[in-house]
Amino acid sequence: MPTIEVRFASGARTDCVIESGALQRLPALCANAGLSGSSGLLCDARVLSLHRDELLALGAHFGDPVGRPVSESRKTLAEVEAMCEELSARRVGRDGYVVAIGGGVLTDLAGLAAALYLRGVPWVSVPSTLLAQVDAGLGGKTGANLRAGKNLVGAFHQPRLVVCDPVLLTTLPSRERWSGLAEVVKCALLEGGDLLQRCERDLERAASGEADALAPLVEGAVRLKARIVAADEREGGQRAFLNLGHTVGHALEAATGYTHFSHGEAVALGLRGMLALCEGMPERDRALRLVERLRIADGRTLDSGQRQAALEAMGRDKKARRGAVRFVLLERIGAPVLREASAEDCARALAAALA
Ligand code: GLY
Repeated sequence: MPTIEVRFASGARTDCVIESGALQRLPALCANAGLSGSSGLLCDARVLSLHRDELLALGAHFGDPVGRPVSESRKTLAEVEAMCEELSARRVGRDGYVVAIGGGVLTDLAGLAAALYLRGVPWVSVPSTLLAQVDAGLGGKTGANLRAGKNLVGAFHQPRLVVCDPVLLTTLPSRERWSGLAEVVKCALLEGGDLLQRCERDLERAASGEADALAPLVEGAVRLKARIVAADEREGGQRAFLNLGHTVGHALEAATGYTHFSHGEAVALGLRGMLALCEGMPERDRALRLVERLRIADGRTLDSGQRQAALEAMGRDKKARRGAVRFVLLERIGAPVLREASAEDCARALAAALA
């Protein structure tokens, strides 16, 4: 498997390695990337218990792993502070670096700790979920939640190295793999071509955890994201296309208290809603057929209060400008556009998502 090299206008550089067994080669990969000095190994406590032997073995190189019991409700600045205290206790110096192993919550928090600790040290992202491998792991968005909403505090801090090991995905619950596959399908609709064909052919095999089906999908999604974030590091333009399906998706998550839908399930429904607004799009039925294969675990019936809350959440979407909601739509597969949407469009998209 290749190393994908991403160079940013800011001068930052990220190497993405996608390889079965890469976790065991982490010390060599860090050395190849020029990382030396003292290191702090921050791990999602669940990943530490699942892969205890491998991570304890890495401790010989990086120092004892620090297991953090992270979750969406603990994605706070207090957790970032606790991580910084751990780095300080391990005497990670200005010449040192942070290694973060876990899902998107862990890598977002540890990336923010790396951005703040000693005013910034390099970091390595080792995403352990499919969702994090194809989205959160690459692109340098780090963050924590505030009471008012998700990811309202954070920093851009590009990891020096992203290491995606498909072996880590085989122990994931199937629902989490489906969640990540929604982001892969989103990438396939943004890209078309080989990634789309692979999704159409291998979606269910990937969902059941077959590494030979998963690895090329991870690679295709990472290549697309790498190209987009390299061209638009700070989301001034095309990086917003990565929010395809997310206007309705974020609203569904918020309206149901972030408990009913996984992120990917909400994105899968958001993609259906988005397609309802793509009038005249060639191959819309093809796109819809693929999106409808994405599995939603617990049904998609919302009561009228939740529907109203979802509509209100769409109006508050981060991409809204001067009161108008902006949707990423598709002119055709592989050709996204940003369009303002009326209140009727929002209602139509929500109805199609939940139909
Ligand atoms: N998750 C979208 C982005 O990284 O921009």
